Amino acid sequence: MAAIVTVKFTVNGAAVQTESTRGKTLLTVLREELGLSGTRNGCGVGQCGSCTVIVDGAVRRACTVRSEDLGDTRIETIEGVSPDGTALHPVQHAFIDEGGLH
Ligand code: FES
Repeated sequence: MAAIVTVKFTVNGAAVQTESTRGKTLLTVLREELGLSGTRNGCGVGQCGSCTVIVDGAVRRACTVRSEDLGDTRIETIEGVSPDGTALHPVQHAFIDEGGLH
């Protein structure tokens, strides 16, 4: 039976608590538990960069980060880059322009 791990962290400024099986990736938590589907699953092995997020100010590939290693971290996703949420950030425009939504 897989161990369940409770982890608290912040995503786009909101406090989050998850109970995940050990080894579950940040990518899975963002997409399946938090509904943040802007973080894409391309290769799933850390090579394509489509799952890129910012963790404590550092660029990370969410498919390579285990959820149990997230304690007290601050995570920013593509959904959170617009300062006020009313206008698209240049990164969001580039995401759309380059077909990152497919
Ligand atoms: S999905 Fe390709 S690097 Fe994470």
